[in-house]
Amino acid sequence: MLNPNTNYTALKDSYLFYHIAQKTKAYLDAHPGTHLYRLGIGDVSQPLCKAAVDALHQAVDDQAASETFHGYMPECGAQFLREAIAAHYAGRGVMLDASEVFVSSGASDELGDILDLFARGSTVLIPEPAYPAYVDANVMAGNRIVHLPTGKARGFLPLPDDTIEADVIYLCSPNNPTGAVLPKELLQQWIDHANRTGAVILFDAAYEAFIEDDALPHSIFELPGARTCAIEICSLSKTAGFTGTRLGYTVLPKTLERGGQNLNAMWVRNRTTKTNGISYILQKGGEAIFTDEGQSQIKAQIAVYKQNAKILTAALDDLGIWYTGGKNAPYIWLQCPGGMESWDFFDVLLQRAQIIGTPGAGFGACGEGYFRFSCFGSPAETAKAAKRLREVCKQL
Ligand code: MLT
Repeated sequence: MLNPNTNYTALKDSYLFYHIAQKTKAYLDAHPGTHLYRLGIGDVSQPLCKAAVDALHQAVDDQAASETFHGYMPECGAQFLREAIAAHYAGRGVMLDASEVFVSSGASDELGDILDLFARGSTVLIPEPAYPAYVDANVMAGNRIVHLPTGKARGFLPLPDDTIEADVIYLCSPNNPTGAVLPKELLQQWIDHANRTGAVILFDAAYEAFIEDDALPHSIFELPGARTCAIEICSLSKTAGFTGTRLGYTVLPKTLERGGQNLNAMWVRNRTTKTNGISYILQKGGEAIFTDEGQSQIKAQIAVYKQNAKILTAALDDLGIWYTGGKNAPYIWLQCPGGMESWDFFDVLLQRAQIIGTPGAGFGACGEGYFRFSCFGSPAETAKAAKRLREVCKQL
């Protein structure tokens, strides 16, 4: 008789963004033809930049000729892309060996897969509000989760605490959903804490490209001590519009060891067993992002999303609604007006303004009473959504 993974019984009925999609579908079924303003899941609206598209086309042509055709790609990533990413880090003063960069199919996949490195039943510290996949992936894996709530008083920034014993610590900076960015001094405290306690930090840097304040770190490896305690997980989804194209990378230093095992070697062992690599075509598209041309094109796209953030925050300012984020991050985290609960505010916005957002409670209990807007929509749609937001919230 098959024994299913009983950890699944401890999960919520459905994943946050799937649940929102279901609610949205139910609304559209009941109101056919209604146009919705989508500020919910952080899905990009700008097409891929020209540098990436040209490289993708060229790579398809390469696959069409026997002289340039590629079969299986190296499981841990093509050398050309690993080197391009290492060079990008070097440009920020972070020296990596290309073998410390692993090409992935995206951050969300990797954040779950990487748990293979840790024993089942590990204790995992998750500062909240947090991207809900952290919790769900660890519930599925049977790990023990310690929720670390953060709040408005400290700008939603988590503080390390040596009395909390954890094997693995998730840090997301810029944070999804709050947009809070860990300043160097605080990130250093987390690094020192992890090195002292033997924990490993999983540093989710999926939104680093949105940082505009030069004093803030883009990578945990900009700071001393990180090479012995951290794994950094990055994505081209939000940086370069690859949500539907799928490409990411993970930095796992060769100096990271626990229990006498080298985690970089373990990850090589894992990847060479569990994947056959990412397609040549996608990796060529990704390589183009790290050229000067690619970098300037993606900066222009990010500027569009930043402008969306300005339009939404101007509406919130006029309405007197408290918010944070939107500056170094593509998300705005706001307090629901009138002390409303977050799923109630979701319903109000959907029913009265046809706006889809994300309820704060979906990111952990301390997110109750808050709400998240994504700035990844098109400028025209975002402007219309901001107008409707003003009209509806004025009446609340
Ligand atoms: C979000 O909206 O939090 C993200 O787009 C979800 C994801 O990256 O999977």
